[in-house]
Amino acid sequence: MSDEQRPYGSGTSDPALKRVRTRHFKRAKENGIKITGLTSYDYMSASIFDEAGVDFLLVGDSAGNTVFGYDTTIPVTMEELLPLTAAVVRGARRALVIGDMPFGSYENGPKEALRTALRFMKETGCQAVKLEGGVRSAEQIERIVTAGIPVMAHIGFTPQSEHGLGGHIIQGRGDDAEMLMADALAVEAAGAFAVVLEMVPSEIAGKVTEALSIPTISVGAGPHCDGQLMVWTDWAGFGAGRIPRFVKQYADIRSTLLEATKTYREEVEAGIYPAPEHEYKE
Ligand code: KIV
Repeated sequence: MSDEQRPYGSGTSDPALKRVRTRHFKRAKENGIKITGLTSYDYMSASIFDEAGVDFLLVGDSAGNTVFGYDTTIPVTMEELLPLTAAVVRGARRALVIGDMPFGSYENGPKEALRTALRFMKETGCQAVKLEGGVRSAEQIERIVTAGIPVMAHIGFTPQSEHGLGGHIIQGRGDDAEMLMADALAVEAAGAFAVVLEMVPSEIAGKVTEALSIPTISVGAGPHCDGQLMVWTDWAGFGAGRIPRFVKQYADIRSTLLEATKTYREEVEAGIYPAPEHEYKE
C-alpha cells in the first residue's frame, strides 16, 4: 500500500507526520487496509519500527521472556513494564503505543484494572492498554474505556493463563469456536477498540473478523484478520529458542550479532582493534 492510500495520512516520510489513533484502526477495517503491529521493549527498536511505518507497538508482557529471561509471562510486574513502555513511547513518533497489563494487575476487578491502566497512561505516556480475557475481562474493559482509556482486548490463547489452558494449545477448535465468538462479542460490547486473536484456526478467526465491527489482530490466527502482530525478537531471529509455526523470520539478527561479536573478540585478542584510526591523539 502506498503512503497516500493509508487512511490516517501518509507514512513517516510525510513532513505532516500524524500519530496513529484508535479511530484509524476502525477506518482501516472499513477500508480493507491491513494493520501492522510489532512488539517493542526499548527506545531504539521502537524508533526503527516507527520509521518503517508500523502502525502500533505493543510493549508486551512477552518482555518477561525476551528481556527478563523468565520461562513465562506470569512473573512480570508493573515495575518492570513501566520503564520499558516509557522508553518505547520516546522512540515512537507516529505509531500508537500500547502498554500490556501484566498478570495480577487487573484480575481482581474493574477498580484494580482501572488503577493499573491509569498508571500506564500517567507514568509512560502510552496511548492505550491491552489485557487478556474475553467474557471474564469484559467488566474491566468497560471500566477502563469509560475512564477514557482505549483498550485492546486479547482472546484465544492467552499466555498469562497458560497453566489454566493446559499449555500452548490452539484455541477455538470444534465446540470451543462458540466460546471464542462469545469472548469476541463481549470485548466489542465492552468497548475495546481492537482484539488480538492468538493461536486460533484461520477459518474461525475469519468468522470472528466478519462478525465484529472492531478490527481483529492476528497472532497466529491467519490471513483473514484485519491486522497482524508479531513478537519482534521472533520475527527478526534474535532469540535462540523455538519459533512458533506462524512466525515468518524476516531477519537473522542473532547470527549477525554472533559473528560480529566473535570478530570483535578475535581482533581484540590479536591486537587488531583498536587501529590507529580509533585512537585519540594529543
Ligand atoms: O506480550 C505479548 O507480546 C503479547 C502478544 C503476543 C499479543 O501479548
